[in-house]
Amino acid sequence: AGGPLVLGIETSCDETGVGIVAGRELLADEVASSMDQHARFGGVVPEVASRAHLEAMVPVLDGAFAKAGVRPSDIDAVAVTAGPGLAGALMVGVAAAKAYAYALGKPLYGVNHLAAHVAVDQLEHGPLPAPCVALLVSGGHSSLLLVPDVTGEMTSLGSTIDDAAGEAYDKVARVLGMPFPGGPPIDRAAKEGAADAIRFPRAKLHDGTLDFSFAGLKTAVARWVEARGDAGEPVPVADVAASFQEAVADVLTRKAVSACREHGVTDLVIGGGVAANSRLRALAAERCASAGIRLRVPRPGLCTDNGAMVAALGASIVAAGRPPSSLALPADSSLPV
Ligand code: KG4
Ligand code: ZN
Repeated sequence: AGGPLVLGIETSCDETGVGIVAGRELLADEVASSMDQHARFGGVVPEVASRAHLEAMVPVLDGAFAKAGVRPSDIDAVAVTAGPGLAGALMVGVAAAKAYAYALGKPLYGVNHLAAHVAVDQLEHGPLPAPCVALLVSGGHSSLLLVPDVTGEMTSLGSTIDDAAGEAYDKVARVLGMPFPGGPPIDRAAKEGAADAIRFPRAKLHDGTLDFSFAGLKTAVARWVEARGDAGEPVPVADVAASFQEAVADVLTRKAVSACREHGVTDLVIGGGVAANSRLRALAAERCASAGIRLRVPRPGLCTDNGAMVAALGASIVAAGRPPSSLALPADSSLPV
């Protein structure tokens, strides 16, 4: 196989992810999630996540090596998410990565979680065109980024001024009595509903910026559902889900196309957990096609947090000849793009 053999470790939130790649070839992508333990709290509990990472780390690492059919000593480099994310959760992955790097005598690379969400697309669709625009939509982030090349410094073109897109999904799901995380159940319910049933607000659509706002949308959905309840009428859950989802996808795709136009970029990549959303993917494909923009979205399994994305970015960094991190690499919960 071509390219460096890189181990990638991801622990920024609730997923303990370990990936192994050979350049752009994916050899293993093992994930253990502590989501079951958080669901009843309606959100990820940092302390619970850290503890779960600690318990899952060695089994997931062993599983990844077994799956890839490589020995730890075969690895050329160890990459790990250094931030942003939950501080205690990040620390578990960073500590594990340091232990492997030190014990194996291999270089350590601390990587940015957001850049890894972008780089993962290379495992599926080959080298990312440079420059490209990335729309990064997850539970913690909603940003438009200008990506000069995947290992280089990204510039933020705009981001949410309040809730992240995934956060809006999670909150609306709660209003509709669906489990956490809310993205997948809303996506499923929306398939049975009409996207034009209710006209929910599209904030900041024509404000001339590339920023987003989803807090008002979430409140509008909650008010609408509440009013139905007050009137003693049943809530058309599928229509609400489809109409909410349409508002999110509409704003995200319009602004992503605007970002490409404004910066003269012809390639858009979408990443992060919300990129798994079926309507966002379909609408992005439609609008990019009419705008003459080439669209790349990794398969849903690679959109949510995983170790393969960290390994993928690590492999690009190694191939670009960038210097490794020190073994004193800190976990940085607010690492900027
Ligand atoms: O990237 P990710 O796994 O973790 C973070 O870095 O935040 O994203 C998790 C977010 C959650 O808010 C979840 O509800 C959302 O991604 N999500 C989805 C879908 N699958 C996951 N949102 C919409 N549609 C989906 N199919
Ligand atoms: Zn993420």
